Amino acid sequence: MSPDPNALLGIAIDKTSDLGNALAPWKPDAECPVHLFARQAIGMAWDFSESVPPCDSSGSFLSAYQRSVDALNSIGELGSKPGQIQLADATDHPLPDQTAGVWFTDPPYYDAVPYSDLSDFFLVWLKRTLPEHPLLRDPFDPDNPLSPKTAEAVQDETKQAGGRPKDREWFEETMAKAFSEGRRMLSEDGIGSVVFAHKTTEGWEALLSGMIRGGWTITGSWPIATEMGSRLRARDSAALATSVHLVCRPRPDDAPIGDWAEVLHDLPIRVGDWMERLQGEGVRGADLVFACIGPALEIFSRYRAVETAEGDMIGLPDYLEKVWEVVGRAALQQVLGTAETRARNDLAGALEEDARLTALFLWTLQSTETSKENSKGNEEDEEAVAKAAAKGFGLLFDVVRRFAQPMGIDLDTWTGRIISQEKGVVRLLPVAERAKSLFGDDGARAAADWIESDPNANLQATLFPELDAAPRLRNRRRGKRTILDSDAELQTLDATTLDRVHAAMLLQASGHANALRTLIGAEQDRGPDFLRLANALSALYPRGSQEKRLLDAMLLTVPR
Ligand SMILES: C[S@@+](CC[C@H](N)C(=O)[O-])C[C@H]1O[C@@H](n2cnc3c(N)ncnc32)[C@H](O)[C@@H]1O
Repeated sequence: MSPDPNALLGIAIDKTSDLGNALAPWKPDAECPVHLFARQAIGMAWDFSESVPPCDSSGSFLSAYQRSVDALNSIGELGSKPGQIQLADATDHPLPDQTAGVWFTDPPYYDAVPYSDLSDFFLVWLKRTLPEHPLLRDPFDPDNPLSPKTAEAVQDETKQAGGRPKDREWFEETMAKAFSEGRRMLSEDGIGSVVFAHKTTEGWEALLSGMIRGGWTITGSWPIATEMGSRLRARDSAALATSVHLVCRPRPDDAPIGDWAEVLHDLPIRVGDWMERLQGEGVRGADLVFACIGPALEIFSRYRAVETAEGDMIGLPDYLEKVWEVVGRAALQQVLGTAETRARNDLAGALEEDARLTALFLWTLQSTETSKENSKGNEEDEEAVAKAAAKGFGLLFDVVRRFAQPMGIDLDTWTGRIISQEKGVVRLLPVAERAKSLFGDDGARAAADWIESDPNANLQATLFPELDAAPRLRNRRRGKRTILDSDAELQTLDATTLDRVHAAMLLQASGHANALRTLIGAEQDRGPDFLRLANALSALYPRGSQEKRLLDAMLLTVPR
C-alpha cells in the first residue's frame, strides 16, 4: 500500500521544523544543524543554527522529505502483513476479555519524558498541513486542541487528573489499572512483555508496584541495548545504554502465599547467577543493577502475598530494599572481596566505609559496552571521560542512597571528605581536590619531605595536617585525632586505606618518587589492604580519567 501523499508531505514539514527552529544547535564536526529532539526534551540553546529550507542540504525540506520516504520504505520492507492500529487509553482498552495472545507494552518512563507536551511541537504543524485529519484530535476531550493530556500516565505533579496531582501515587494507580487491563485482555496461556528504563530506583518501584497490583508474575527480564552509544552519555553520570524487557504472565488467582525466609534465601542465589551471566555479555553498572530486577521479582511476584513466620505481610518496598542490598553486596564481593559483603561499620577484615562507598560508586558508574567501537574506548570518549572526571563523577542521590544505606554507609559522614552532594546528585571528589584536605596548605612537598625523613613513622600524622589548627582533643591512640567541629559535634578523622591510596596517587602526580617508594614499602609491611584497594580501583576508574592514569603509574612502581 503506498502512503497518502498529503500525510507524507505533512511528516516532511514536521521534520523540517525539527531542524529549522531557534533551538536547533550546530554540529561543527559534521557541519550541519542538529535536530531539536536529540534528547527527549526541549533544551535551551544560546546560539542556534539557521538551516535553509529551499535547498537540498541538511535541514532542507528536500532532505526531510527523502528521509521520511526512506523511513516509510524501510517499514514496508519489514513485511506485508497488514496491522490495525487504534488510539486508546491503556487503562480502558477496547479489546474484549481474553482475546490477545501477546500483550506488549512500552509504558511511560515515570517522570523521565513529558510525552504529550513534546508531541505538541509536531502536532501544531500537522494540524495545519493535514486539517480535519481524524487522528489529529483528542478522542477523549473534544475541547482540547492539543494532544491528549488528562489520561496521560506520567509522574508530573504540575499536572492534574480528576482533581488530583499526577504524583507517584497517581502514577502507580494508573499503571496498576493499565496492567490489569492487559491481564483482562490476555488469554490464559498468553504472554506479556513490558519495556522499561529509568535511572532511579523510585521510577522502577512505581512501575513494579503497578505490575504486581495489576495481577502479573514476572518470569524473566532481558536488558536490550536500545540506546546509541553516543558521546552524550560521556560517562559522567550513570546513563543507561539498555532498556529492560520484562517478560510476564498473568498470576493465577489461586497463587500461594510465599514464605519470607524462603524468598530471602533464594534472592542472592538468583541475583548472583544473573549478574554473572549478564557481566559475561558486557552489561555493566546501572544497566546491570536494573537488569537484576526481573529475576529478583520472579521470586516475589509468583506469590499472591509474601509473609513472615509471624504472619506479617511483606510489601514490595521492603522487598526492593533487600534487592538493592543484595545487588550492592554482590557488586562489592566482586570488586573488593568477601569480607566487604558482610561488613557493616568496620567489621574485621573489611576495608573501611569510604573504600566501600568509592568502589560501589565507580562500579555503578561503569557503562555497558553497546558497540565494538565503545569497547575499544576511542579517543573522543576518553577526552569526555577526562572532562567528567575532572569535575567529579556524578550519580543520582536516589541510587547512591539505596546502595549505601543497607551497607551501613552514612553519606553525610563522607560528604566534604570523599563526596559532595548538590541538587540530588552525589559527586565523587576528584583526587586532585583532596590534596589540600590530605596534605594541608603546604601540599605534597611537605608531606614528601616528612615521609622521606622518617620512613618508619605513621603516615597518619602527615595526613590531615590542617586539623592541627582546629580546636581538638587528642585521642589516646597515637595519630588518631578527634576534633570539635563548628556544631561542637565530635568528629574523628583517621587516615583510612583510601586516604593512603589517594595520598600515594598525589605523590605520584607531584613526581615525589622517593617518598612514594617509601610509602608503598611501609604499606606493604602493614598488610595487603593498600594494594588490594589500589588494584580494585584501577579496574574501576574509567579509562581516560586522571585517577586511572595515576593509579596505574603508581602500581607500576610497586616492587614485585
Ligand atoms: C515509552 S513511550 C513509548 C515509545 C514507543 N515505544 C516508541 O518507540 O515511540 C510511552 C508512550 O505511552 C503513551 N501514553 C501515556 N499515557 C498513556 C495512556 N494512558 N494510554 C496509552 N498510552 C499512553 C505516551 O504518550 C508515550 O507515547
